[in-house]
Amino acid sequence: MNIHIIGGGNLGVAIAIGLSKYSKNTNITVTRRNTESIQYLRQSGITVASDNTFQIQQADVIILAVKPHQTATVLNEIAPLTLGKMIVSAISGITIETLRQFTDNASPIFRIMPNIAIQFGASATCIAFIDKDKEQAQKVITLFADVGTVPVIEEKLMDAATVLGACGTAYALRYIRASMQAGIEIGFDSQTALAIAAQTAKGASQMLLEEKIHPEQLIDRVTTPQGCTIVGLNEMEHQGFSSSLIKGIKTSLQKITG
Ligand SMILES: NC(=O)c1ccc[n+]([C@@H]2O[C@H](COP(=O)([O-])OP(=O)(O)OC[C@H]3O[C@@H](n4cnc5c(N)ncnc54)[C@H](OP(=O)(O)O)[C@@H]3O)[C@@H](O)[C@H]2O)c1
Repeated sequence: MNIHIIGGGNLGVAIAIGLSKYSKNTNITVTRRNTESIQYLRQSGITVASDNTFQIQQADVIILAVKPHQTATVLNEIAPLTLGKMIVSAISGITIETLRQFTDNASPIFRIMPNIAIQFGASATCIAFIDKDKEQAQKVITLFADVGTVPVIEEKLMDAATVLGACGTAYALRYIRASMQAGIEIGFDSQTALAIAAQTAKGASQMLLEEKIHPEQLIDRVTTPQGCTIVGLNEMEHQGFSSSLIKGIKTSLQKITG
């Protein structure tokens, strides 16, 4: 499959590296205007170009990973060459309807919301599409399943997916950083504290994903009555742990939706 990624920034590069590593039989091209900082991708067999139309005729899938305000420029440039090709947009806030207008309804359009863990094959890549494109959607779902999970969602939930899935990476990292800071206070050097905190968060996620149960069921396995875990956990809740997360997530969503 020939994959053409337009917008080799944080996300575009993460998608390129992830797909080149975890998805077999893919040829990947990444474009951006100033390619100097992504020349290193060539070492992984990824083609780098500054012209968005470079070899686009050979592309099976075009992935858009530019900022929302760059959408019109890019689509006006490539639209004459995208007839019938699958267009997958990771651009937040730009609807399928808008993308269809730019492409004269001549291409199947998919909106995705991955996160940068796609580089390590571990993204939650939400996808939305219209009914007309559901057959082709299977190809896109199969592609992104190589680099994580692919929840199919309604398009109206795309902003919520941006917050929970994409911004969520930052929230999770801040949790790990806070654990690390506490770890230093209770006796570890920073590197050891970080290694323990990061692996513990990974282990907790892995248990949830593999056992497919409610977090509280796993918490029950860790909390001995009158033990040290439950007193710490309750103190965190008294200080607003869950509440601050919920409020933060809702504030992020308000920022997107205005
Ligand atoms: N970062 C994330 O975690 C994440 C997650 C999910 C979704 N998203 C969405 O993905 C999109 C990109 O986000 P980002 O964080 O990767 O932004 P970014 O790092 O700023 O990347 C955008 C890239 O687009 C390139 N670009 C700008 N105009 C272009 C043009 N006309 N043709 C080709 N390339 C062009 C820029 O490079 P040049 O200036 O050199 O052209 C830049 O490298 C956004 O819509 C964002 O909402 C991001």
